[in-house]
Amino acid sequence: MGECLARYIGRHPTAAIAAAVALIAVVAGSPGEGKADLVETCLSCHPSKASAQKETSPIGVPTLAGQHPAYIVKQLERFRIAADGDDPFRRLSVTMGHVAKELPASERLNIARKLSSQACAFHGNPDPPGVEPNACAVCHGARGISNNPDIPNLAGQDLRYMFYQYQKLREPFLPYIPGIKAPKQPNRLHPVMGPVSAELHDQVVSVMLYYSKLPCR
Ligand code: HEC
Ligand code: HEC
Repeated sequence: MGECLARYIGRHPTAAIAAAVALIAVVAGSPGEGKADLVETCLSCHPSKASAQKETSPIGVPTLAGQHPAYIVKQLERFRIAADGDDPFRRLSVTMGHVAKELPASERLNIARKLSSQACAFHGNPDPPGVEPNACAVCHGARGISNNPDIPNLAGQDLRYMFYQYQKLREPFLPYIPGIKAPKQPNRLHPVMGPVSAELHDQVVSVMLYYSKLPCR
């Protein structure tokens, strides 16, 4: 299971997801020591310091290193319920929907803390921000670390992931993976970030590029 499953997602989505979900079901059900393996299972897809270079999914997979545990827990709940298309906080992911259903609610915060405490996945030598003022800083922080646990940190986040999520928030009917059929219901909705993402121009892209190069904490 050391392989990065994310690499297969483009070509063999169902097999890769099924393998990971089956493992989560087994590990979540086993007592004691098994819990460390659960973190490993998450990290078989989510980029870590060790795997970041190998990750080749075209839409990126988010790193959870440094992320607010409360934000992680909240997203897991959204993936699990996959609320109706008219829910203003809807978030749909076929992969994470399966994962979140298998993960017992009592384990969520514990796993979220462990994932958050991982070493930063991506490194870089950030250039100074290409834009002044940075319109995202008011919520996500000047260096991509937000001080509100409901707002995700973007520092050190995978650039492809950030960019695709931004577009999903902007156009909620964007396919889950580029090239497949558009969904019948919106993918990701958020009453604050949705309207913010209506703006998409070079400055927004330079801020995301800048954030992606910053240390995750
Ligand atoms: C089979 C691959 C796979 C596995 C295993 C996996 N994930 Fe994910 N995860 C993804 C993908 C892909 C996304 C992006 C979903 C989207 O497009 O919205 C994601 C998104 C997330 C997010 C949202 C992050 C954000 O910045 O909004 C959280 C939280 C998360 N996963 C937690 C977990 C946890 C906890 C585990 C282990 C119990 C786990 N994942 C296992 C593939 C996986
Ligand atoms: C008024 C506050 C606010 C502003 C300004 C804002 N955001 Fe957000 N952003 C949010 C919130 C809240 C979320 C979490 C949405 C959710 O829970 O699904 C979010 C989520 C995101 C995500 C998804 C992150 C993830 O881990 O899935 C990206 C990417 C993002 N914002 C980029 C930006 C960029 C780039 C800018 C500047 C152009 C920006 N945001 C400005 C509040 C804001």
